[in-house]
Amino acid sequence: MFDVSKSILQKLELNALNTQSIELFVKRDDLIDEHVSGNKWRKLKYNIEQAKTLKKNGILTFGGAFSNHLVATAAACQKAGLKAIGIVRGDELNKDSNDTLRHCADFGMELHFVSRLDYAARNEKSYHEELNFEFPNYLIVPEGGANYYGMIGCQEMLKETPNDFDYIFVAQGTTTTSCGLALALPEQSTLMVVPVLKGFDSLAEMKLLFAYTGFESSMIQEVLDKVEILGEYHFGGYGKYDEALLDFLEHQFQETNLPLDPIYTGKVLYALQDWVVKNKIQKKRILFVHTGGVQGGKMIEKKEGRHFC
Ligand SMILES: Cc1ncc(COP(=O)(O)O)c(C=O)c1O
Repeated sequence: MFDVSKSILQKLELNALNTQSIELFVKRDDLIDEHVSGNKWRKLKYNIEQAKTLKKNGILTFGGAFSNHLVATAAACQKAGLKAIGIVRGDELNKDSNDTLRHCADFGMELHFVSRLDYAARNEKSYHEELNFEFPNYLIVPEGGANYYGMIGCQEMLKETPNDFDYIFVAQGTTTTSCGLALALPEQSTLMVVPVLKGFDSLAEMKLLFAYTGFESSMIQEVLDKVEILGEYHFGGYGKYDEALLDFLEHQFQETNLPLDPIYTGKVLYALQDWVVKNKIQKKRILFVHTGGVQGGKMIEKKEGRHFC
């Protein structure tokens, strides 16, 4: 449905890393589609396939007011000829509250605004039973596409790249993408994970998702042994950033023309550069996975009067 061959592997030259003889490449998943970009299509691909196989009416999923996942689900379902229902956190909102929700509605998603209390039950079986009763024959996909199908879709990113990278860097929110990449990791690679949430127990959360999706604990440990967490680059937490990060993004955009956002991918490239320099890493091959989020970056650009995507 979406053409992943648009996701090219691009060499990235950062002046700050010149003396280290690092070979840095970026996997441009942000180029897959304007609305279903980055890890969004990876997470939705097999969910959509499953909804069709099971002859579901559509997909029901969850998200906050600015959820990239909601828009991507709406756009992908429209293209697949499926219906889409979005359960949105915040009963004070409506479809005209912001561009994200407007896009969802424009793509035909039926939006239901629920209180924060109800939203907190989004992963509970009893709530899913209620939803199944109210909206029969929908595939229920967790917030952020965090299920088995999401994870195996994300594995495919690494099937399209050479297998000789020493380090692979990626942003982490729900852990779906990092879990998928960890499962597909080449023998010689270490997965460098940059959580964007403050105080997030990345490894514990990854273990939970693996366990929830049916992986055995001995296998989970083997997979996680090749994962390193860089937990000090959240810049205060989800949606937070500072002048130093914005300066870095502007500078790197002038240097490389690569669009990044200060919520996810910007924090990863900042972490990558900082980690390589501080640890005096030399002559390594590094892959940076661009997971999208450029639309969110454009909103922040406008708000801050900066230019980085
Ligand atoms: C642009 C972008 N990058 C990275 C992530 C983190 O991915 P995950 O939630 O699978 O950990 C997200 C959230 O889905 C995102 O929107």
